[in-house]
Amino acid sequence: MAEEKGSAVGEVVHEVRSHSSKGAHVASLEKYKKLHEDSVRDPSGYWGRLARRELKWMHDFDKVKIGSLKNGDLAWFVGGKLNVSENCLDRWVEEGRGDDVAIIWEKDEPGQAVKYTYLEVLHKVCQIANVMRKFGVKKGDPVTLYMPMIPEAAFVMLACARIGAPHSVVFAGFSAEALRARVDDVHSKWIFTADEGLRGGRTIPLKKTVDDAISSCDFVNKCFVFKRTGADVSMTEGRDLWMEPELEGQRPYCPPEVMDAEDPLFYLYTSGSTGKPKGLMHSTAGYILYAQTTCKIIFDLRPGDVYACVADVGWITGHSYIVYGPLANGTTTLMFESTPLYPDAGRYWDVVETHSVTQFYTAPTAIRALMRHGPEPTEKYDLSTLRILGTVGEPINPAAWTWYFKHVGKERCAIIDTYWQTETGGIIVTPLPGATPLKPGSATLPFFGIDLEVLDPQSGKVVPFVEGEESSGVLCVKSAWPSMTRTVFNNHERYMNTYLKPYPGYYFTGDGVTRDKDGFFFVTGRVDDVLNVSGHRIGSAEIESALVAHDAVAESACVGFPHEVKGEGIACYVILKLGNEETDDLIKDLRNQIRSVIGPFASPDYIVITPALPKTRSGKLMRRVLRKIIALEADQLGDTSTLADPSVVDSLIEKVATLRK
Ligand code: WTA
Repeated sequence: MAEEKGSAVGEVVHEVRSHSSKGAHVASLEKYKKLHEDSVRDPSGYWGRLARRELKWMHDFDKVKIGSLKNGDLAWFVGGKLNVSENCLDRWVEEGRGDDVAIIWEKDEPGQAVKYTYLEVLHKVCQIANVMRKFGVKKGDPVTLYMPMIPEAAFVMLACARIGAPHSVVFAGFSAEALRARVDDVHSKWIFTADEGLRGGRTIPLKKTVDDAISSCDFVNKCFVFKRTGADVSMTEGRDLWMEPELEGQRPYCPPEVMDAEDPLFYLYTSGSTGKPKGLMHSTAGYILYAQTTCKIIFDLRPGDVYACVADVGWITGHSYIVYGPLANGTTTLMFESTPLYPDAGRYWDVVETHSVTQFYTAPTAIRALMRHGPEPTEKYDLSTLRILGTVGEPINPAAWTWYFKHVGKERCAIIDTYWQTETGGIIVTPLPGATPLKPGSATLPFFGIDLEVLDPQSGKVVPFVEGEESSGVLCVKSAWPSMTRTVFNNHERYMNTYLKPYPGYYFTGDGVTRDKDGFFFVTGRVDDVLNVSGHRIGSAEIESALVAHDAVAESACVGFPHEVKGEGIACYVILKLGNEETDDLIKDLRNQIRSVIGPFASPDYIVITPALPKTRSGKLMRRVLRKIIALEADQLGDTSTLADPSVVDSLIEKVATLRK
């Protein structure tokens, strides 16, 4: 059971003594500390040993690591050859585990799960790979996926890995315009989609969105379409192809391509503080090793476990912890097509009971949405199989943490608050179940091989850790780890400027952090203009450029503000062009503009029409002032003496007060 004791800084520390600590991969804090120290002292020794033990190589590597963070020229497992799909599938079949369940697909409608064994997944992946080869997809060709949460999404990812074609999965909530930008940037000639998606009882017109997106991309050779709902969709002759008839009769084996350790496994677009989204590149060996190892140790995977991460494969969490991490461990992984509230607030727990889930991984925003429905739904189901409860995507507020711990975990399961990013490829700060004391709101301590440092953003100097003292700064990593992103597609300079040049010699996360007196990390959120809305990353610059593309908009500035369920809400301050007036229709139109350029999930909570924005005399926008105003904290504006026209602030305060009533 849990013991609660007050820590000196006032948070509650939980020491979870559950069956999760008995025989856990890392049994105590002392053991963690020793292993962590060893791993950061000799990263090559640590990762080299693991790479040989945990992965299947076609050819051994010569050197564990070359290059440096300073130069941005890192390479891991140099000279090594392997194939990720072989590591995720063939080796378990070869070990005689072909009949073990690899994927449980929990469909949108409850009670309709479908299970696929490792042998079945291998066959399906090989058949898809053979179709791709038949139509001319080659090693190195980027392939875009715009897929619903159906097992075929994972099959296609693995089929891409099998033939060495890097995938670029685009979350199916993105609009046609956002999809077009991503297809265009990576210049992918191949696209996979489905007729429609199904989520919370509603259909999502995926094929239609793809049609709109690629109508101007004449470099697209083929659009491969899976059937999900059977909807009548339009198919362009010569370009579009139904997959089901193509798969029939395909050989269920396809030899895996021999891939270099550093060959790209995938690109994944993510938002930054400026400009358009970046196609982050992840490598083959380093990525799969890190996904495999973190998944195994952090979720304390054991034979017979049923592991459920309810994210979407369109985000990095889905890549690393629905598909690659669990399958590279031979675990049973669950794919969830629905939402936490469909058909009611008990859906997650119904899934846990039905499939005897042992690890459950979700986002704080989902927990906060469920908290509103009270604990009853968690009491209706048998949750006794659960050992570990993970969260990811944004800081978890202590109230949500405690609710998850009490009502879902019954004070018996470890809450694993995992901090990481699309860039890091896998979890980098996390408690280890059974070893690390838990503090609500803290991702606690670095994973093995991760050497964290807190830097002072003004001086760029290290803020040293002094036991018993709290300190803050920006979170950086001091030495490379295998799954860090290697580059931005077609723009290495941007990669250097964003991550490696701000603090030379360090990887810069873009997050602020407080380290408590025990050295535990509390990530406080982005220090740049990236918003985190319901765990989805959106750049304020992206929303602003969507708005100024509208005829009526002269200028806009978008900021986040604390939101009870979403974590962060979006507020857009907009200056209209002369001759336009604020009307309900115009506001609706502006909202639609953002939905159609980015996607519905980026829909703003507030649009504040204003004649001017708070700028300094030199013309610099004071976002801090805009954030305080929308957060109803105008009493904490700080120094506004540099503003060119201080009266702007008063009129904005007044306007926001009426909007937020
Ligand atoms: C935030 C998601 C606090 C952070 C895997 C980071 C978190 C961004 C946590 C990356 C956490 C993620 N605690 N903040 N446990 N996990 N974040 O790329 O700001 O979608 O930089 O990757 O989410 O979001 P991304």
